[in-house]
Amino acid sequence: MPVPTTTLLAPSILSADFSRLKESIDIATAAGAEWMHCDIMDGNFVPNITFGPFIVQTIAACTSMIIDTHLMIADPDRYIEDFVKAGSHQITVHQEACPHLHRTIQFIKSLGAKAGVSINPGTPVSTLESVLPDLDLVLLMSVNPGFGGQKFIPSSVGKIARLHTMRLNVNPAMVIAVDGGITEENAQEVVSAGADALIAGTAFFKSVDPARTAAKIRAMTR
Ligand code: DX5
Ligand code: ZN
Repeated sequence: MPVPTTTLLAPSILSADFSRLKESIDIATAAGAEWMHCDIMDGNFVPNITFGPFIVQTIAACTSMIIDTHLMIADPDRYIEDFVKAGSHQITVHQEACPHLHRTIQFIKSLGAKAGVSINPGTPVSTLESVLPDLDLVLLMSVNPGFGGQKFIPSSVGKIARLHTMRLNVNPAMVIAVDGGITEENAQEVVSAGADALIAGTAFFKSVDPARTAAKIRAMTR
């Protein structure tokens, strides 16, 4: 299977105006975004707390976009089924939160969702080697997870390139998504290194013209 070549845009709902949730989702839909990225934080694995399956269900009911759920929670196995039932099409867990990562990936797939694994900036891509053939996506964190609006960590570019080389050999259809500090300015470098999907919270929802920002990001090619 060929490596994906068009850039997928995934606005992170975390940066949206929650008093106008439906309107924010509609802005992302109208901008042609492919995925709606839902950041789930538990105040344990990461210092911040966001929302749970009930809000994901609300979001899923408002859009036909792919619901891309990023679980920044300890012991994610306890909640994966709830998030799939809430309408998540893709579930991404953190390598650092899963002692039995292979089992967790199989569990996500058994529920009919696509399986992703995320790694923090301090975690090398080599830790994914044994599970790479089983993955639908890798979510490479380019900031330390917990908050939107942080600055992109430059060493992420080398990690994307190394992961891209790894996947070409074992799983070329696997999607590489990059999350944190993505802007119109750094998007091309990230895509050139091997990213297929860009998560954008601040850059999209705080933009004066989200549709224009989306068009620019989605036009990036390798
Ligand atoms: C960080 C989250 C990101 C974040 C992205 O913990 O996983 O998805 O919302 O937001 P920006 O684009 O503002 O860095
Ligand atoms: Zn995220």
